Amino acid sequence: QQIMKKSELLAGKKILVTAGGTSEPIDPVRYITNRSSGKMGYAIAEACANAGAEVKLITASDMQVSNPNIEVERVITSNDMLDAVKNNFDSINVLIMAAAVSDYKSEVVSDQKIKKNGDYLEIRLKKTPDILKEVTKQKGNQFIVGFAAETQDLIVNAIKKLETKKLDLLLANDVSNDNIGFSSDNNQISFIDKNGVFAKTNIESKASISSKLVKILSERLD
Ligand code: CTP
Ligand code: CA
Repeated sequence: QQIMKKSELLAGKKILVTAGGTSEPIDPVRYITNRSSGKMGYAIAEACANAGAEVKLITASDMQVSNPNIEVERVITSNDMLDAVKNNFDSINVLIMAAAVSDYKSEVVSDQKIKKNGDYLEIRLKKTPDILKEVTKQKGNQFIVGFAAETQDLIVNAIKKLETKKLDLLLANDVSNDNIGFSSDNNQISFIDKNGVFAKTNIESKASISSKLVKILSERLD
């Protein structure tokens, strides 16, 4: 068996990573978003680039990317992110959806700032497109990795996501614990495939989790 240097584990692979929480406008000065920082996706992009992959990062986070080998495309809304992922999907080997995509957006986006008026304001929200479900419709040989952020019944809910979104690999994380996930530098992940949970990390850095993901990808890609 050929022994590869760690730096070559993903040589020749084209990998698309999404990161950050999308924002959905309500009016010119307001939007709805979530607590995702983008750190997990950035760490994955970094680890894949260091393993020799050609990496493109589609990000809804405003964090800077220092690695010159990572191509960056910035997006704001879930629809922007859907378009960006679709435009790149046919030419990639791996999609890693680490972004926290907004599930709902304001049904109507006001052209003018909404004036304060009365004790209550109702904003009707409409479901956003599910990016993973949209792109798996055009799936060829791409290896697709998703995340599941849960606050309860982590594994049961995660396995449902793996199946309904037709994923090859899913990284499940418990987001009820403030010490891990979201803006933290640490996370704890259960790796799940069609046979169930096959690995679980300790609470460890997002960089360390990303190297484990790189190793798993290198074993599972042909
Ligand atoms: N995802 C997506 N498009 C969306 C919402 C989520 O592609 N509109 C992706 C995420 O990037 C993640 C996976 O789907 O890789 C699971 O996201 P998650 O928020 O955990 O699940 P949802 O399907 O949105 O369900 P819920 O939030 O109700 O648990
Ligand atoms: Ca969601």
